[in-house]
Amino acid sequence: MKIALTYNLKQKDESKPADYFSECDSADTINAITNAIRKKGHDVEAIDVEYPKLLSYFRKNSVDMVFNIAEGKSGKFRESEVPAILDYLNIPYTGSDTFSLALALNKAITKKILKAENIPTPNFQLFIKGNEELDPALRFPLIVKPNCEGSAKGISKANVVSNSKDLYKRVRETLEVYNQEALAEEFIEGKELTVGILENGKTKALPILEIDFSTCKNSGEYFYSWKMKEYQGDKDLGLVPAFHCPARLDKDIEERVKEVALRTHRAIGCADISRTDIRLDKFNVPYVLEINPLPGLDPKESNFPIMAYAAGMKYEDLIEAIILSASERKGLN
Ligand SMILES: Nc1ncnc2c1ncn2[C@@H]1O[C@H](COP(=O)(O)OP(=O)(O)OP(=O)(O)O)[C@@H](O)[C@H]1O
Ligand SMILES: [Mg+2]
Repeated sequence: MKIALTYNLKQKDESKPADYFSECDSADTINAITNAIRKKGHDVEAIDVEYPKLLSYFRKNSVDMVFNIAEGKSGKFRESEVPAILDYLNIPYTGSDTFSLALALNKAITKKILKAENIPTPNFQLFIKGNEELDPALRFPLIVKPNCEGSAKGISKANVVSNSKDLYKRVRETLEVYNQEALAEEFIEGKELTVGILENGKTKALPILEIDFSTCKNSGEYFYSWKMKEYQGDKDLGLVPAFHCPARLDKDIEERVKEVALRTHRAIGCADISRTDIRLDKFNVPYVLEINPLPGLDPKESNFPIMAYAAGMKYEDLIEAIILSASERKGLN
């Protein structure tokens, strides 16, 4: 097959906030994916997303499939921008469609759907103006997040608040800095888990990954904050979480967690691949925090490949599984 890889390249720009490009992909990831696609016998061209050029590129060059990891640049629908262009041109692409990508990027609407499906997710409130009255049903501590971001952008220790004064301060900062609604939700103490779903012949969960932050005490960080994600592995900073894959869970709880991730994948209409982030509370209730239809695919750093390796797959097998699943969906096999 002739495949085009669409991506947004991570850049260095001192004039932008430190987390501005966190969602974008590194040259290492792009090289790893193109090498994997070639290893599996396909032709591949990697295309940095420049929107006006993208349309003319695909008009001039015929491809069988797009392997899409483009995060878009900003805005509530950024992850849908490339798929929307591909839909318009009728070009098949891997992963979730325009609608599911926009939906999953919106945490509050995703959570409303999860609640309707009886999938546990922390209680929450959405702040649009920043002066809304606090829902008296919500219990502190709360965590404040931008409603439509990823890579823990805008999420630091200071975003976990235990009183309404701090809550409104963080809500207003989030509204201003990230120029979007702020979500406040109950902070769930407990195990941090993430579950990869891969449609590899059939839709199934990979071994669950548990991320243990008790090894990061010296850093003062205690959850998957932006700082933890960005500097993960930095021994000097003490940001050395321990990864356990499969997670240290009893069999029945493991099955329950996987089931919740599968139901989330289906409820949001994801395709081929997704990663659901979960917190398991002290009663072993798996609370879904969010679903990522474009999980990071850095072969060394990202959570999803760690889970694929634990399932016995090589990196190129993971990439091929995504292509095969998309081909099957689109009737290209
Ligand atoms: N309600 C919560 N209770 C406990 N911890 C939470 C909660 N919400 C977020 N966190 C912590 O913050 C991290 C980032 O939150 P979340 O996954 O919602 O953000 P994101 O920016 O979409 O992340 P990603 O990098 O996966 O795209 C979580 O992995 C978890 O450690
Ligand atoms: Mg997350």
